[in-house]
Amino acid sequence: MARLTILTAPDPRLKLVAQPVVAVDDAVRRLMEDMVETMYAARGIGLAATQVGVAQRVVVMDLSDMPEAPKQPLKMANPEILWHSDQDSSYQEGCLSVPGVFENVTRPDACKVRYLDEQNEVRELNATGLLATCIQHEIDHLNGTLFVDHLSNLKRNMIIKKLEKAKRLGQAAPVAF
Ligand code: NI
Repeated sequence: MARLTILTAPDPRLKLVAQPVVAVDDAVRRLMEDMVETMYAARGIGLAATQVGVAQRVVVMDLSDMPEAPKQPLKMANPEILWHSDQDSSYQEGCLSVPGVFENVTRPDACKVRYLDEQNEVRELNATGLLATCIQHEIDHLNGTLFVDHLSNLKRNMIIKKLEKAKRLGQAAPVAF
């Protein structure tokens, strides 16, 4: 396995719309494993291929973030939202590509997702709460959308300016997830 470099905003590659994978083959499985390793190393709970500069519809997640809990990575190719609840919930989101920024984002509280697992089998998953939030956040990445794109223009521009300045000064912003 190999650790990959996580792109941070503003990087034009984060705006690309990723392409579906044709099938989950050895190359896609290797990408999934590398992404899981990269996500754990960065102490994240989710990572989309877009964030490591690969424009393919692949995401990984692991919400078992307690040190004593067994690792349970979810690996998905071509994830698609089949249904989402009318009821919304608001969660304070962060993103490995937008380091040091945490803002409340409102999204559907529950969703049903269809995807290909690492054996190339079609699966469906009903998600609520933080898992539903995380899945929607990762699918957004595959469509070139960052969580800060859900905020007002004013707030987003302030955040982008702050990140540009941090990059210019070579500051490593703190990362949580
Ligand atoms: Ni993110």
